[in-house]
Amino acid sequence: PRHIWLSRHGESEYNLQGKIGGDANLSSRGELYAQALPGIVRRSGVPQDTQLVIWTSTLKRTIQTARYLQAETKWDQLEWKALDEIESGVCDGMTYGEIEKTYPEDFAARDQDKYNYRYRGGESYRDVVIRLEPIIMELERSDNIIIVTHQAIIRCIYAYFMDSSSDKSPWMEVPLHTLMKLTPKAYGTKEERFKADI
Ligand code: F6P
Repeated sequence: PRHIWLSRHGESEYNLQGKIGGDANLSSRGELYAQALPGIVRRSGVPQDTQLVIWTSTLKRTIQTARYLQAETKWDQLEWKALDEIESGVCDGMTYGEIEKTYPEDFAARDQDKYNYRYRGGESYRDVVIRLEPIIMELERSDNIIIVTHQAIIRCIYAYFMDSSSDKSPWMEVPLHTLMKLTPKAYGTKEERFKADI
C-alpha cells in the first residue's frame, strides 16, 4: 500500500453517554467531524489524480462519518462487517462503571490481560485480529484506502503496520476527530496525524 488513512467515526450518542458497542447515531459534534472530513483528507495530502477507496464498517456511525466525504469525492465505498467494533457480548450498551459493578471478575480479568480477555458472548482483541486477516490481506495489495472504523479495530490495524506488541496495542490512545495517515516504507511505517478543528 502507498498510504492508508485511518479514522474513528465521529463522536456518537453512545460515546457521549460512555456506553460501549451498540449502533448509535453520530452526536452533533460527530456530525461536524463528518462535515469536516473531506477538508481534512485534502489537507492530509492526497496525491494528484488519485482516487481513494472508502472502507467503513456496517455500523451507522462509520457510514454517517463517511457520508460527506463520499458525496464530495464520489470515491467508491465498501462496507465491511469485519470492520465492526469489537463485540462486547453481554456488556454491549453498558458503561465501564456498570460492567465493573455487574461483572467485577470480568472487569479485573480484562484489565489483567486485555488482549486475550474475551467478553461473555463476545470477542477478545485476539479474536478481532483474526477476523481482520482478510482486511489486512486486501489492504496489503491495495493502494490508497481510507478506513473509517472503530477504536479497537484501529488499534489492531495500527499495531499490524507499526509492529506494536499485543500487550500494549489494546491500550493505545486513539483520539476521536483525528485522521491518521500511514505510509509504509522499506523499514518502518511513517505516521502523520491531522486533528479536526471543531
Ligand atoms: O467506547 C467506544 C468503543 O469503541 C466501544 O464501543 C468499544 O467497546 C471500546 O471503545 C473499545 O475500547 P476498549 O477495548 O478500550 O474498551
